[in-house]
Amino acid sequence: MTQDELKKAVGWAALDFVEPGTIVGVGTGSTAAHFIDALGTMKGKIEGAVSSSEASTEKLKALGIPVFDLNDIDCLSIYVDGADEINTQMHMIKGGGAALTREKIVAAVAETFICIADASKQVDVLGKFPLPVEVIPMARSYVARQLVRLGGRPEYRQGVVTDNGNIILDVWGLSIVDPLGLEEALNALPGVVTNGLFAARAADIALIGTADGVKIIKR
Ligand code: A5P
Repeated sequence: MTQDELKKAVGWAALDFVEPGTIVGVGTGSTAAHFIDALGTMKGKIEGAVSSSEASTEKLKALGIPVFDLNDIDCLSIYVDGADEINTQMHMIKGGGAALTREKIVAAVAETFICIADASKQVDVLGKFPLPVEVIPMARSYVARQLVRLGGRPEYRQGVVTDNGNIILDVWGLSIVDPLGLEEALNALPGVVTNGLFAARAADIALIGTADGVKIIKR
């Protein structure tokens, strides 16, 4: 199976967790896009979705799924999204698609975070995938210098402006043995909007696409 077929398998498998009549939290990226396609088959049975990016909003609307403003929602039962890396504690690196901040906000509201990923995303130690950090544009150089002090090699993601009007620094060379501590330390830097570590809000369920089928892992 190709990587995209594995992504499709988990995207569609996540449909089993969607309750009729609810509003569903929806992530961003190529795996989440398969989930949105699957969700399209439940149009009319669900109330709608809350989206984590302009790209996902556009796709949801194109399929006729109503998209709600998060401010109008008290709670979400599930949030379904992909990951760039996931470890055995269900901590993740996310943000390869630059949507990390809105993803973290919607995930914070949801009772259950369902991570959908192909098996190549499973790692023992996070950090081989460069850690995305969303930064207010005027703080780019300052934050980059602090990231170097923390042992990383930040790289400005050229030509990318987030949905919030900010820039992304991708940090290479980190071996992240304390995801929770690093998540907090990075978020404390002035100018950092958020970083792509999802440790404080880890996944509750992971659907992992393998050649032998979809594995379900619960925290
Ligand atoms: C988007 O900003 C990300 O957090 C994605 O969820 C992550 O990059 C995984 O993307 P793919 O599903 O495209 O691999």
